[in-house]
Amino acid sequence: MSKEDISRRQFLNYTLTGVGGFMAAGMLMPMVRFAIDPILEKGSDQDMVAVTDVSKITSEPKTVNWKIKQKDGWYESEVTQSAFVYKDSSGKIVAMSPICKHLGCTVGWNNNPAYPNEFYCPCHGGRYYKNGKNVPGTPPLSGLDLYESKVKNGKLYLGKAVPRGGA
Ligand code: FES
Repeated sequence: MSKEDISRRQFLNYTLTGVGGFMAAGMLMPMVRFAIDPILEKGSDQDMVAVTDVSKITSEPKTVNWKIKQKDGWYESEVTQSAFVYKDSSGKIVAMSPICKHLGCTVGWNNNPAYPNEFYCPCHGGRYYKNGKNVPGTPPLSGLDLYESKVKNGKLYLGKAVPRGGA
């Protein structure tokens, strides 16, 4: 083996290792980016928005609507969000998503005379108690999502809706 053969072999080794590493990095970078992007991104839809005056909230669930900016890749749009808001018996403010946990229809409050003081979904008869927990034996398998909330300067701020899991 001459000196030139070894250096040629080494050269090929380095080149192939370099190309292989470059290709591996090219494949891994999008995966890493995909995994950590939600952590890095300051999602505008995660920000809390003032939705109503606390003084307007009663023990009766009322619908509040607000708009958020949503970014989907390069496409930005404004989306209307809704929540049922009320004060429970201890005076705590409750803010729930009106999206049915069965197949995503919109539920109403006290909208079916057969089930007073409940949230009712007209699509397949889904029912929820006032606290948003699903009535056993009806189609939804979990309670309505609860919004992250805070009160500041007399206003109710809502963030994202969080699933509550099982009934
Ligand atoms: S979508 Fe509400 S009960 Fe089916």
